[in-house]
Amino acid sequence: MNFDLTEEQISIRDAAKDFAENEVAPSSVERDLNSEFPHEIIKKLGELGFMGMMVSPEWGGAGMDTVSYVLAIEELSKVDASVGVIMSVNNSLVCYGLEKWGSEFIKENYLKPLASGQKLGAFCLSEPEAGSDATQQKTEAVRDGDFYILNGMKNWITNGTNADYYFLQAMTDKSKGYKGISTFVVEKSFEGIEVGKKEDKLGIRSSDTCTLGLNNVKVPKENLLGEEGIGFKIAMETLNGGRIGVAAQSLGIAQASYEAAVKYSKQRKAFDSPISNLQAIQFKLADMAVMTEAARLLILKSAINKDEGKKYVKEASMGKLLASQAAVQCALEAIQIHGGYGYVREYLVERFLRDAKITQIYEGTSEIQKLVIARELIKESA
Ligand code: CAA
Repeated sequence: MNFDLTEEQISIRDAAKDFAENEVAPSSVERDLNSEFPHEIIKKLGELGFMGMMVSPEWGGAGMDTVSYVLAIEELSKVDASVGVIMSVNNSLVCYGLEKWGSEFIKENYLKPLASGQKLGAFCLSEPEAGSDATQQKTEAVRDGDFYILNGMKNWITNGTNADYYFLQAMTDKSKGYKGISTFVVEKSFEGIEVGKKEDKLGIRSSDTCTLGLNNVKVPKENLLGEEGIGFKIAMETLNGGRIGVAAQSLGIAQASYEAAVKYSKQRKAFDSPISNLQAIQFKLADMAVMTEAARLLILKSAINKDEGKKYVKEASMGKLLASQAAVQCALEAIQIHGGYGYVREYLVERFLRDAKITQIYEGTSEIQKLVIARELIKESA
C-alpha cells in the first residue's frame, strides 16, 4: 500500500496546521477552562471548506478525499481535540449520510448549509437505555398524514446544544426490531424539541454534549432519509466512517502528547543532563512513537480503502481501537515525563489525558470495536 501523500493532500494538511496553530491554539486553554464552544473557529472552518470536506461541491462541500480529512482532523486535534470532534461529527456523522441517502430536497435544504458550514449538525442514535446496544431504540416516529410524530429521548449528543439540524434515528415499526428503525432530519426549531442541559465533562470541554427530548415533534415526511426501516443500516454505515474521524482525532492527541514529551525531555535537566539522555525516558518516547505511527498507518489504510471503494469497516475499527489507546497511553506517559508539571494546567499534557479518554468511549467503545473487528475477521475466514 502506498502511503505517500499527494501534493494536494500535503497542502490541505498544511492549511489545517496553519489554521490550528494560528487560530485555534491561542484560545484553547481558556475555552477548556470555561467550557466555551468555539463559534468563531467553526464558522471560519466552514468558510475554508473543512466542515463538509468530503461532500461534492455540487452540495456545498469541498470534494476532498478521506485521507485529506484524516490529515486535517489530526492537525486540528493536536491543538484542540474539541474542535476535532465538532468537525468530525458534522463531516462524517451528518454530511456523509445526507449525501449518500438524502433526496434532492434534503441535499438542497440541509446538506448544502451543513457542508458549507453555515449550519451545524449532530448525530442522535444513543438513548438512556440504548448505548452500545444501539438496536434497543425507544424513540418512536408515528406516521400521521404528511408528517411523522416523534416522541422519545436521545442522549450523549455531541454538538447537541449548538446544532441546527439533527440526524436522528427513531422506530417507525417496533414489531420489526432494528429493521423498524428509520432516520430523519429534524430541525432544532421544530416545536416539541427540548434541548437538555450541557453535560459537565472530564474532557473535550469546549465541545458541547447534551440530551434531546422529543415531545410530539411534527417532522415532514420529506425529512425521512431513504425509506422506512433502513435507519439502523444508515446509522451503522455512517458510524463506520465516523470511526475514521475519531481515530484521526485520537491520533492528533497522541502526536501532540509525544511532541510535548520530546520537547520537555530535551529542556528538563536532571542528574547533570537533559532527561532525554536517560534510558527510562528514551524507552517511553520510543513506545509512544511506535504506537502513534502504527495507529497512523492503520488510519491511513482505512481512509485509502474508503477512497478506493474497498471494504474499510474492520480497518476503521482497528484504527479507532489502536489510536484511542495510543492517545490515552501517550498522554499518560507525557504526564509522567513532565513529572509534577504534567499534573497542573500550566502544561497542556493534563488536558491531553482528559481529552483522550472519551475516544475509547464514543462512536463505539473499544469493546464494541473489538466486536466489530472479530465479526469481520470471522466473515473473512468463512
Ligand atoms: N456496518 C454496517 N452494518 C452493520 C454494522 C457495521 N459496522 N454493524 C452491524 N451492522 C448491521 C448488520 O449487518 C445487521 O444487518 P442485517 O441484519 O441486515 O445483516 C444489523 O446491523 C444488526 O447487526 P447485528 O445483528 O450484528 O446486531 P448486534 O446487536 O449483535 O450488534 C452493534 C450491533 C455492532 C453492537 C451495534 O449496535 C453498534 O455498533 N453499537 C455501538 C453503537 C455506537 O457506536 N454508538 C455510538 C453513538 S454516536 C456517539 O458516540 C455520540 C456522538 O455524538 C459522537
